[in-house]
Amino acid sequence: MSVAEIGAVTGRGEPNSEWLRIGRASDVPLLEGRSVDVGGWRIAVFRLPDGWVAADHACPHQGGPLGDGIVADRCVTCPLHNQRFSLETGERQDAEGPGVRMYEVRERAGQLELRRAGLADRLEPAA
Ligand code: FES
Repeated sequence: MSVAEIGAVTGRGEPNSEWLRIGRASDVPLLEGRSVDVGGWRIAVFRLPDGWVAADHACPHQGGPLGDGIVADRCVTCPLHNQRFSLETGERQDAEGPGVRMYEVRERAGQLELRRAGLADRLEPAA
């Protein structure tokens, strides 16, 4: 696991839970992102001053690692070509083109969790 990752979730995890546990909140510093592998799909989780947001880790421009980007003004700047994306809406800020998909994330008892409903097409099919 690299320094920018917080863990990996394979398969569907706990089948009856609405939320999928992805890692420890304490592993994500303020105004930084970390990525997690969710069933083979990488999602970036960011700690903002007032809470958490999650988005696809792969930049829609050319696949840069958004979880390693610079976080400021509720946006993340991709480290490859410096395009900015809103961490509220996922929209691209400085150029035309697709934004990033956002996911619901929360902290519970020191653990980060993603809402399963938003991940249905990202998780592996049940065995
Ligand atoms: S890959 Fe992110 S801006 Fe180019």
